[in-house]
Amino acid sequence: MKIIAGNWKMNGSRSALKEMVSGLQSLETNHTIILCVPYTMLGLESGRINIGAQDVSAHTHGAYTGEVSAQMIADTGAKYVIVGHSERRGYHNETHNTVRNKASAALSNGLIPIICVGETMEEKQAGKTMAVIESGVRESIPSDVNTPIIIAYEPRWAIGAGLTPTDAEIADAHALIAKTLSEMGLSGTPILYGASVKGSNAAEIMSIPNVDGVLVGGASLKCDDFIPIITSVK
Ligand code: 13P
Repeated sequence: MKIIAGNWKMNGSRSALKEMVSGLQSLETNHTIILCVPYTMLGLESGRINIGAQDVSAHTHGAYTGEVSAQMIADTGAKYVIVGHSERRGYHNETHNTVRNKASAALSNGLIPIICVGETMEEKQAGKTMAVIESGVRESIPSDVNTPIIIAYEPRWAIGAGLTPTDAEIADAHALIAKTLSEMGLSGTPILYGASVKGSNAAEIMSIPNVDGVLVGGASLKCDDFIPIITSVK
């Protein structure tokens, strides 16, 4: 059983989510299906889809105009939240420290954080991929985790670019993440791969050792693209 998660980023609408919910309703699958949607789409009827947000405030409440707390997200019935996505780290200068605090806020309110790590093209070219992944895992995860978390390996250079690492590169990255998690007392934590996943490559990617599922951007927006990813694996 795999975890197939979609990240709608700043796309979609409430009616598009309704369409996705009804499109997936009759699908036969044992996989866990998650959609991380914009805040405005939280709280809608979601059928078999588990709903998540895409970011969360590190603060509990108060004068933080425009921010949304983990408690507010949980209050909508959402179960997951992405933290530390490449686009948050890149466009909003989020550090490991910020990401860790956001993950902590999520955990304190019963949400499962999907914590993203991954290297930029510059880091890859400098031969730092493994070091960046390991420090991302060690520094973005709170020290006191005792409820489930999910890690997503998203090579930042490959996101939205139609590019993917080789199977061997994905295998190496996921093996390192699994080893690091085990050293942190978190073995068994699911590790998702994300960046340019589509129906045509999903099965191969999910057959790589330590790949427990995928985090899908563009191809999660429409049933016609998302369903083939879900049905591509047993
Ligand atoms: P794409 O699947 O569009 O490359 O996006 C990946 C991603 O960022 C998922 O969080």
